[in-house]
Amino acid sequence: MKSLLVMQLIVLLFLAGCVKGITQQRQILENLLATYDVNEWPDADFDRPTDVSVQMFINSFGSLNAANMDYSIDVFLRQHWVDSRLQHSRNRSITIRDPDMQKRIWRPDTYFHNVKDAEFHVVTMPNIQFRIDGTGHILYSVRVTAELSCNLKLEHYPFDEQSCLAHLSSYASTDEIVNYHWVEGIPIDLPDDLEIAQFDLLNYYPVEEVMPLQTGNFSSLKVDFQLRRQNGYHILQTYVPTVLIVSISWVSFWLDPTSVPGRVSIGVTTLLTLTTLAGGIRQQLPPVSYIKAIDVWVGMCMIMVFGALLEFTLVNWLANKKLVDNQTCKIIPVCKSDEDEEAPKTYVNQAHFIDRISRGLFPGSFLLFNLIYWPYYLSNGMHE
Ligand SMILES: *[C@@H]1O[C@H](CO)[C@@H](O)[C@H](O)[C@H]1NC(C)=O
Ligand SMILES: *[C@@H]1O[C@H](CO)[C@@H](O)[C@H](O)[C@H]1NC(C)=O
Repeated sequence: MKSLLVMQLIVLLFLAGCVKGITQQRQILENLLATYDVNEWPDADFDRPTDVSVQMFINSFGSLNAANMDYSIDVFLRQHWVDSRLQHSRNRSITIRDPDMQKRIWRPDTYFHNVKDAEFHVVTMPNIQFRIDGTGHILYSVRVTAELSCNLKLEHYPFDEQSCLAHLSSYASTDEIVNYHWVEGIPIDLPDDLEIAQFDLLNYYPVEEVMPLQTGNFSSLKVDFQLRRQNGYHILQTYVPTVLIVSISWVSFWLDPTSVPGRVSIGVTTLLTLTTLAGGIRQQLPPVSYIKAIDVWVGMCMIMVFGALLEFTLVNWLANKKLVDNQTCKIIPVCKSDEDEEAPKTYVNQAHFIDRISRGLFPGSFLLFNLIYWPYYLSNGMHE
């Protein structure tokens, strides 16, 4: 009987404690917010801007899209500031989950300046953390996936390095109201296993600057991501096949000048294959007006293959062309004696000679082109 009473008492006390805990937080908040003006920034009474410290945790980094000139990042945007109006005596910090309650407290209206599209995450609950500790220090962390514009420079594609910006600012509060800073220490938090499709992150540069606009000066934060394209894919899918195609076109020089089906089919097949490959490459890229590294390469391969086809035309024409100096032979007796040795009646010897020269000339000039192309494009990725 006695133990039952004690049990009941303990349960009652526990419940009372819980209820008291809830009401305590609720009570504190309601007291704080009773005279709170959500439109006024925390340091308005002190006539100074509120310092907002920002940290970005990069959850994932999407691929750079050359066709749309953008990239996407999934970030935990963590903003810290002090609102002295929300100082409280509670030992633990207050965590607010109710979105309606969050709306009653001043928050900086941070946005991505170069955003194209963005969304918050709401599964299973809105991905927001809102915490106020006793000193009025507030942590406001939201998870955002944003598509940010990035002007890709493709002159050196696919050996290019890109610099892509994430630019944060306040939409409505000038630098008299909000002052942004990067968090000291680790402003950009990158997970060790961060993977970016097709790119390597070389470095990043966080900057703070003031953005002068018609509507006033706005404090803003920038981070510049330096990325280098992984070109293994392009080496395997573009460069190796084109080298093979060009090499195959040289086989033609070892065939007989009169072998029309063999040499024509080699020439036309290689030219068509190269055209198809070039079309595939073009589809992945925006129609920019300047020449890219890959255009130079494909262009040179086209010239090589087309040159081989032209060479065949010349050689075949020579091999079939009748010697016209029959008359001269009649005059010069030496010619007569040659006739007995079954001298060719066409320019086939000249044709063979051109073929022999081409066997060295074509691979030689392609090699020379490679000796210029690779050092040039591999050495200056973007340093210009
Ligand atoms: C408040 O926190 C401190 C340190 O964490 C602790 O020593 C103290 O007992 C707590 N006070 C109350 C009323 O819970
Ligand atoms: C913006 O900043 C510039 C330079 O600091 C200053 O001259 C200008 O008056 C400022 N504009 C506003 C609207 O505060």
